Amino acid sequence: MKAIILNQKTYKLEIKDVGQPTLSKSDVLIRLKASSLNHHELWSLKDMDLKSDSNIIMGSDGAGIIEEVGSAVNHLRKGDEVIINPSINWGSDERVQSQKYEILGFPKQGTFAEYISIDHQYVYPKPEHLSFEEAAAVPLAGLTAYRALFTRGEFESKNTVLITGIGGGAALFALSFAVASGAEVYITSGNQNKISKALNFGAKGGVNYKDDNWSAELLDKVNGFDIIIDSAAGIGFTELIELAKPGGRIVLFGRTAGNILNLNPKTIFWKQLSIHGTSMGNNEEFKKMINLISSQKIHPVIDSVYSAQEINSAFDKMDRGEQFGKIVIKMDEFMT
Ligand SMILES: NC(=O)c1ccc[n+]([C@@H]2O[C@H](COP(=O)([O-])OP(=O)(O)OC[C@H]3O[C@@H](n4cnc5c(N)ncnc54)[C@H](OP(=O)(O)O)[C@@H]3O)[C@@H](O)[C@H]2O)c1
Repeated sequence: MKAIILNQKTYKLEIKDVGQPTLSKSDVLIRLKASSLNHHELWSLKDMDLKSDSNIIMGSDGAGIIEEVGSAVNHLRKGDEVIINPSINWGSDERVQSQKYEILGFPKQGTFAEYISIDHQYVYPKPEHLSFEEAAAVPLAGLTAYRALFTRGEFESKNTVLITGIGGGAALFALSFAVASGAEVYITSGNQNKISKALNFGAKGGVNYKDDNWSAELLDKVNGFDIIIDSAAGIGFTELIELAKPGGRIVLFGRTAGNILNLNPKTIFWKQLSIHGTSMGNNEEFKKMINLISSQKIHPVIDSVYSAQEINSAFDKMDRGEQFGKIVIKMDEFMT
């Protein structure tokens, strides 16, 4: 099969012919139609931190068609249209992932390939209202946003929610989920155009986090937030403490803007704030996330669709932070 291989010297991605994955009895073999990019892959390309004696095929998100099922798989059939849960080996404690936990894409073969063989427990029917390209945008970002908002954020429909850096893939899922669930949602972005686009997706208002007075501008619009979903951290995080309502929850899953500095402890304890870290999600949360997307007919926001041979340019776009939504890679049109 053809696959996008990580060149472990240059940390660029290259299309190569590699062996087709083997199928164990609990696996299904999926012919991938589309995949999508996530920021953690960009961190790996920049940090140059993946090493292996064999080919590294990255990619956490994928949607495709089942080509073959292992002998122990009963509920899936050849021809089924499916998406993949990239949260592997979460384990039995729903609060936290196990020691064996990994995100699909390393060391396990990921979705930047024509085929993937994966245990059937990670394979779910594709929501019918989504194209393959839309479905491939869902898994990692949708799961992260679902757990952040509902499990860790303890969402209630009367809540006022703030989502920072709305151009991000996971941030936009959080916006869709919160709006579909009846919340009043405000956003931040470093780009005025993205703020305008987010208003079209149901945000009530937004401010530019590059403006000096961005948090004061938000407090002019609303009397604080019950839930704040943040994937940037950095110096802006200090402001989130001020923006949270007493008893509020701040949920953090990223580090795009770097380390957090100068948090005011008094504000945290006096306002009885909860700061929750969150990452990915468990199997039950993945199922609930897919059910929400299907029942509310939610469409992921797609920024752009690239061919497999354009994948390095697609990552360059993510690196420049130009995207609004998910960057999708077509996996059914490999050309060298
Ligand atoms: N822990 C997990 O399970 C998990 C899962 C998914 C993602 N993440 C992390 O979450 C972050 C976002 O991931 P993603 O895949 O959604 O990335 P992405 O699509 O590349 O989005 C990154 C976004 O960060 C925003 N941003 C940049 N600087 C900011 C700042 N100073 N303040 C606020 N927002 C800022 C930008 O929003 P604007 O363009 O609107 O300014 C940008 O669109 C990354 O750090 C990633 O590693 C973690």
